[in-house]
Amino acid sequence: MSEVFAEPFDAVLELGGEPLRAAMASVETRLRQIAAVETNALATIEAGGKRLRPLLVFVAGLGSEAHVALCRAAAAVELIHSATLVHDDVLDDAPLRRGRVTIFAQAGRRAATSTGDLLFSSAFAELALNEDLAQLTALSAASSALARGELMQRADAWRADVTLERYLERCEMKTARLFAAACELGALAGGGPSLGPFGHAVGLAFQILDDVLDITGPAERTGKRRGADLLDGTVTLPLILARERSPELAALDLRTISGPDEADRICELIEATGAAEQAREHALELVAATKRALPVSSGTDQRRALELLADGLVQRFA
Ligand code: FPP
Ligand code: MG
Repeated sequence: MSEVFAEPFDAVLELGGEPLRAAMASVETRLRQIAAVETNALATIEAGGKRLRPLLVFVAGLGSEAHVALCRAAAAVELIHSATLVHDDVLDDAPLRRGRVTIFAQAGRRAATSTGDLLFSSAFAELALNEDLAQLTALSAASSALARGELMQRADAWRADVTLERYLERCEMKTARLFAAACELGALAGGGPSLGPFGHAVGLAFQILDDVLDITGPAERTGKRRGADLLDGTVTLPLILARERSPELAALDLRTISGPDEADRICELIEATGAAEQAREHALELVAATKRALPVSSGTDQRRALELLADGLVQRFA
């Protein structure tokens, strides 16, 4: 089994103690039970991942005794996330994910599409067990946003005129809304304060940092080729900022990038303008501002856990 609890979030688990560890173990068991009906679905779950979204659900519901409802909500969010990655790899013809061969590369387009469908529908079947329309509404709105974000990414592919605003809107749809939903579900299932805006901001920062990592690599760290976004025409913040600083990059047509070696060279050019660092700093400032604005009393375990979670997210990309 792969490592489930990524190191940057150990401090959160430490603070949450046995109840949080038990919650994370329970969602792991539940995910495997749900996915066990199909080989590729199980392989997807067993490939691990940071389980960051379930952690957000549990931290948003910290202190609650509604263990079963929180576990269902956490499993549902992770199932949606897993479904989107399996589908994303089909859309991107991706050979690797998390350093492993993708379901798409291993089993083919049809099998991967169907596996994504299974994981996606299982999420709603699981959350429906909580019998709470507000929870279903939160998750379905986030998954619609995800799909719209992906469509937006397709519409903007290869374009030289993608603006900062348009990029941020895409990141919001693609990533921030599901992070926000994880926090909302934790609050709804556990009865705590609404932390949607916190989830939204850390989700946005997460996507920006992930996009920076695509440019800075290295591949051994990301489990993906450096410059993969450039090769599939995805315009991200480092390139948008670098285009303002480099005439060569401003004139670049992404379609002309011949392969991984040239993508690597373009990544170097982008980094040399300082744009990757600027994008990274923007994300770090977003996280810092979000921590300052947390609507949870200082001195409480929940506040500390949220701060540590935000720190862990940044540390993961350090
Ligand atoms: C990974 O990000 C992909 C996403 C966050 C969203 C993908 C969404 C879809 C495929 C739409 C399908 C929607 C549902 C609800 C099933 P990325 O492509 O930036 O990162 P990567 O480098 O890890 O691929
Ligand atoms: Mg992708």
